[in-house]
Amino acid sequence: MNFKKKILCIGAGYVGGPSMAMIAFKCPDYRVTVVDVNSERIDAWNSPQLPFYEPGLEDIIKKRRGKNLFFSTDIENQIRENDIIFVCVNTPTKNYGAGAHMAADLQYWEKTARQILKHSRSSKIVIEKCTLPVKTALAMEKILSSSRGKIKFEVLSNPEFMAEGSAINDLENPDRVLIGSHETKSGLKARTELTEIYQRWIPSSKIITSNIWSSELSKLVANAFLAQRVSSINSISALCEKTDADISEVARAVGTDDRIGRKFLNAGIGFGGSCFKKDILNLVYLCRHYGLDEVAAYWESVVKINEYQQQRFIAAMLHSMFHTLAGKRICILGFAFKADTSDTRESPAIYITQKLLSEKAELVISDPRALKNAAADLSGAEGNVQFIEDPYEAARGCHALVVLTDWSLYRMLDYKKIYRSMTKPAFIFDGRNIVDREKCFAIGFNVYAIGKPALTHL
Ligand code: UDX
Ligand code: UDX
Repeated sequence: MNFKKKILCIGAGYVGGPSMAMIAFKCPDYRVTVVDVNSERIDAWNSPQLPFYEPGLEDIIKKRRGKNLFFSTDIENQIRENDIIFVCVNTPTKNYGAGAHMAADLQYWEKTARQILKHSRSSKIVIEKCTLPVKTALAMEKILSSSRGKIKFEVLSNPEFMAEGSAINDLENPDRVLIGSHETKSGLKARTELTEIYQRWIPSSKIITSNIWSSELSKLVANAFLAQRVSSINSISALCEKTDADISEVARAVGTDDRIGRKFLNAGIGFGGSCFKKDILNLVYLCRHYGLDEVAAYWESVVKINEYQQQRFIAAMLHSMFHTLAGKRICILGFAFKADTSDTRESPAIYITQKLLSEKAELVISDPRALKNAAADLSGAEGNVQFIEDPYEAARGCHALVVLTDWSLYRMLDYKKIYRSMTKPAFIFDGRNIVDREKCFAIGFNVYAIGKPALTHL
């Protein structure tokens, strides 16, 4: 078949895989190829068992794989064959050298730019989809234009705003698509080419264009604002616990002001995921670099409140369970960083379970999708850990239930049945405010939630 456009994506991760699957689904006359250095990951994309769980993804992959959607490890040939290249390689926080624990580690991204340069035989449009610090496109352009010849590269910034767990819906019905380009003739031409892809299913009014630097910065700022809302409501949850206020009532009262909005005001054990912390630290690093220390300190406090929230949660557990967790069996309900994903990157559960282990608690970890990742995350941790998917089995004989992920399954458990199988006095620590507190208290549990008065029989 003669395809109208040939599109390549380098990086078959949580961003690259779903976003390319959506392009292939919406544009059956385009050929979309996704490549990755990790051959196991590519094998998984080509198998019935995809590399991670994302609702609705499997369905789309099944419809397009082998028709106009391909997964491969042959990066060199694919660079040669495709005219439009999305770059979705990971840009983790640097853990060494200058800017360690703050700046983005750009080594994979730079390696990818050099690969593109080396293997290209014709001009290309190169699109940054991964979150990058401001002005990265400039560096990418410098590498791509380092061998002067007839081949030209036009670099665009097109950050992805989808969230895991709702990726397919976010990709199909995005609030907006952002495309940053140079305002030169060739920059505008490349912008039009990319706009045409998205226009296949997204109204033009939702496709926003800007200069490249604004586009790069907007992605960092969007994530920083979202995380800031979570830290703001979490900071108030601490105050609610000292007074008779209830954080859910406060969030509702505050969020119904249209200027504030209702979303992203759920108090809990803090945000996780691969983006929020990384992007805020990146923003902080950029501000410091430009001498904006007050601005840096402002955004850094968002991360500090997130850590504080998790420390508070552990302290409350210790306090209410008579100041010792040693030898106590604790059931962890949920390890993923949020519901509807198998992803555990930066999950608050990692920190919380490690702290519980250092208090010598015995842990039984349950999660409907993330147990494999949980086992990998805790592989080096010392202590007694079991992994049991069935929540009823996991809770048997435990002193406490600790809800760390907002899986809807945990709202509907038979807590009466669970209570009967537990050691008494039995505790619930609801880190996501999803359990029916009054009902569980009536069953006999001592119930502790975030930003709400404790309901206790003790
Ligand atoms: C990542 C970042 O987490 C996110 O902030 C950014 O916006 C996009 O990149 P994600 O897709 O979640 O998002 O990362 P990950 O699942 O780790 O996927 C990256 C893939 O790139 C991996 O499969 C990795 O093997 C691949 N890769 C990395 C390459 O193919 N080549 C490289 O040189 C480096
Ligand atoms: C985020 C952004 O939402 C998305 O636009 C961007 O592309 C990538 O980063 P993601 O990390 O996948 O997406 O999930 P998100 O739904 O934003 O949740 C992040 C964390 O915040 C989760 O741990 C979640 O549990 C937590 N959260 C979210 C809260 O604690 N309270 C809330 O009200 C909302």
